Amino acid sequence: MGKKVKRGALKVYEVKIHMSLESLEALFLLKNQVIECIIQNKYKEQWEVSMIEWRNEFLLGIEKIDEQHKKLFQIASDIHALMKNKLVTDKYDQILILISELKDYTVFHFTSEEEYMKSIEYRKLFSHKVEHDDFIEKINNVDLDKVDLDHQQYLLEILEFVVNWISVHILETDKAYTVK
Ligand SMILES: [Fe+2]
Repeated sequence: MGKKVKRGALKVYEVKIHMSLESLEALFLLKNQVIECIIQNKYKEQWEVSMIEWRNEFLLGIEKIDEQHKKLFQIASDIHALMKNKLVTDKYDQILILISELKDYTVFHFTSEEEYMKSIEYRKLFSHKVEHDDFIEKINNVDLDKVDLDHQQYLLEILEFVVNWISVHILETDKAYTVK
C-alpha cells in the first residue's frame, strides 16, 4: 500500500508500480483483448437470442400457417439450445436428429402452404415453390463429414441459415400471398 496523500478535499492513495515498458504494453494489450472479448460475446449472445425469437411481425393472419411457422422457429430454438449446451461434447447424433426433424417438418409445411396458395389461385405459386425446393435441397445436401469435423461450427452455420431463411422468406415471399 502506498502512502496517503491529500489533494484538495480528496484523500487518495499514491501507489508506485514498477513495471517495464514491455510488461505495461502486454498488460494494455491484454486489457484490450478482454474488453473486445466481452463486447463480442455480449453482442453474439444478444444476436443469437434475438434472431431465434418469434415476433408478431411474422404473423400472416392465416392461423394454420402461422402455427407452422412458429414450429419452424421452435426447431431453430432447439438447434440453438444444442449449440449452447456445454454438457454434451459429441453432438453428432443430436445434430442428425434435428436435421431430420427440420427436413420432415419443412416438407410438411411447404406442402401445406403450397396447397393453400393453390386454393386461392395465387399467381406466383411457381416461383414461391422454387424457394421452398431450394431450401429442401440445401437440407438434403448436408455434408456429414463437415458436420463431424466441427459440431459447433456446423450448428452455428445451420442456425444462421435456417433463421435467416425463414425470417426473410416469411416477411417477403409468404407475406406476398396474403396481399389481396
Ligand atoms: Fe413459403
